[in-house]
Amino acid sequence: METLKNKKKSTGGRYTRELSAEAELFGTDSLLAVPETAPVKTSAVSSVASSAVSSAVSSAERVIDGERREGELTWEHGLRPQRFEDFPGQDRVKEKIKVFVEAAKGRGEPLDHVLLSGPPGLGKTTLAHIIAHAMGVEIKTTSGPALDKKGDLAAVLTSLKPNSILFIDEIHRLQTVVEEYLYSAMEDYYIDIVTGDGLGARSMKFTLAPFTLIGATTRAGLLNAPFRDRFGIVERLSFYDKATLAQIITRSASLLTTKITAEGALEIAKRSRGTPRVANRLLKRVRDYAQVRSDGTIDAKLASYALDQLEVDHLGLDDMDRKMLTLINDKFAGGPVGIETLSAALAEEKDTLEEVYEPFLIQEGLIQKTPRGRMITALAKAHLEEMKL
Ligand SMILES: Nc1ncnc2c1ncn2[C@@H]1O[C@H](COP(=O)(O)OP(=O)(O)O)[C@@H](O)[C@H]1O
Ligand SMILES: [Mg+2]
Repeated sequence: METLKNKKKSTGGRYTRELSAEAELFGTDSLLAVPETAPVKTSAVSSVASSAVSSAVSSAERVIDGERREGELTWEHGLRPQRFEDFPGQDRVKEKIKVFVEAAKGRGEPLDHVLLSGPPGLGKTTLAHIIAHAMGVEIKTTSGPALDKKGDLAAVLTSLKPNSILFIDEIHRLQTVVEEYLYSAMEDYYIDIVTGDGLGARSMKFTLAPFTLIGATTRAGLLNAPFRDRFGIVERLSFYDKATLAQIITRSASLLTTKITAEGALEIAKRSRGTPRVANRLLKRVRDYAQVRSDGTIDAKLASYALDQLEVDHLGLDDMDRKMLTLINDKFAGGPVGIETLSAALAEEKDTLEEVYEPFLIQEGLIQKTPRGRMITALAKAHLEEMKL
């Protein structure tokens, strides 16, 4: 695991992909016509280490992956719910967290440390901000790869106000030394600061203000047990059902002042891979079609037409997903085939396959994970047949 972690760190841009024919089909981000800007600050939210924030932004070009892309920060911010009431879905997680927030507030203490895991685009960052809002405290955000040295972390920790929240995105990518440096901060709110060097070096105990650490990760399994155990609240987000996504799409459409019918919202929801970020992205693309090809209203027919143009099929799969399924089916007789082999054959990083593509394919019963590798299911075979027509 250690080697895997280190390897991940050294590769850096895990989701960076080659510009492919598929990207050309989908068009580039210029279609979105959203300028890249610095993270927006609101009164309750202050961002530290803005480079950290931007390093979490991927340059992926698929229209349906859950990863955030450059340029999306601006409009995502506008669509991002600020309160639990505007955050549909994840009911089980939400209800629990609401109780913990209420209790912590009642005691006048910081909330226990929270670890949120799940595939990209399901609302981990959003939830962290909602929690801060509900607690009525400040939140500072950074990410695992940005906290390069112990000193980076010390600077952030010592700047925290009492009971405020430190949000660390991609927390599984923290360097081990930095991670271990967090232990005493999380448990007893102090860090050791070393001054001087060589024989004159002295270690000094520095007391921190009580705070809450919220970590987000797509790979909870990569966290060391002693680290994971220091989070009092550990929650995994799951893919959204279509009705909930339709609700999110309808809300986003109204924020974008776009007219959408219930059937139109459902059509987009069906093809959104259970992921709000994808739903919002598809909505924006479909809106363009509605504006140019119709009277601006998104109904089922227009949504379906636009999504066909974008080559997102009725299961929410795009060209790359179908390529992966076809490869297992045709070249490997349906599997099982190892992830390394798939990675080489598809010229796609193993981590990206595991974190971005696979979870949804597995959840939809299109791929099965076995000890000997990935196999495609009868359902996937039927889908490929259907798509050939
Ligand atoms: N439950 C939800 N309701 C409404 N919008 C959501 C929800 N979850 C996520 N979103 C939207 O999806 C986008 C991605 O969410 P984000 O919190 O950044 O995901 P993650 O951090 O898990 O990758 C945000 O723009 C947010 O507005
Ligand atoms: Mg996030």
